[in-house]
Amino acid sequence: MKVAPSILSADFGRLNEEIKAICEGGCDFIHVDVMDGHFVPNHTIGPVVVSAVAKAATKPLDIHLMVQNNTFFVELFAPFKPEYISFHIEEEKHPHRLIQKIRSYGIKPAITLNPHTPPSAIEYLLEDLDMVLLMSVNPGFGGQKFIPSVLQKAKELKAMIEAKGLKTLIEVDGGVNAENVRELEKAGVDIVVAGNYVFSASSYKEAIESLK
Ligand code: DX5
Ligand code: ZN
Repeated sequence: MKVAPSILSADFGRLNEEIKAICEGGCDFIHVDVMDGHFVPNHTIGPVVVSAVAKAATKPLDIHLMVQNNTFFVELFAPFKPEYISFHIEEEKHPHRLIQKIRSYGIKPAITLNPHTPPSAIEYLLEDLDMVLLMSVNPGFGGQKFIPSVLQKAKELKAMIEAKGLKTLIEVDGGVNAENVRELEKAGVDIVVAGNYVFSASSYKEAIESLK
């Protein structure tokens, strides 16, 4: 299992140290939650902070857009060369076009599904994606309770990926901890995002290892 700690739960007053600690603690990616106060009822970070994160990071960035104007934000964050940029299918009229745009920057495109959105919503986009991000909470805040129906959804999505002979990765985001990670792995999940679980631990390294 690969682990992407969400910096939403980090201490932003000590952001540099927090980023270094999760990188040294063995994380695989750094999950960056961008919220615009419109798509979700919260507002987080912009390019000034993401620039600082990118400078401190020794692991690749995984940018999760929770915004209304996806194209604007893709253009804003592309210069930081993240590994992935994911956008919500619920908020995009032209997902295929946006996937091409993300790829044109040399960034791997991913699509995020809210808890109610079925895998069939992206059936005809799957072959163009490197990853699908399944929300296991309603986007907007860290520290929420895991919604277990994501397990069935991950299984369905995995079957769809295999039936098409693809290598698309599945990432799950929200309420992940050492108790539910095993079920996620069994359901075919490749990467878990963990905010509160990692950043509330006394040892980030041990928390990351417990998820692996
Ligand atoms: C929620 C964010 C998540 C969140 C995860 O909108 O997308 O990445 O920070 O945090 P935890 O692991 O605390 O649920
Ligand atoms: Zn996220």
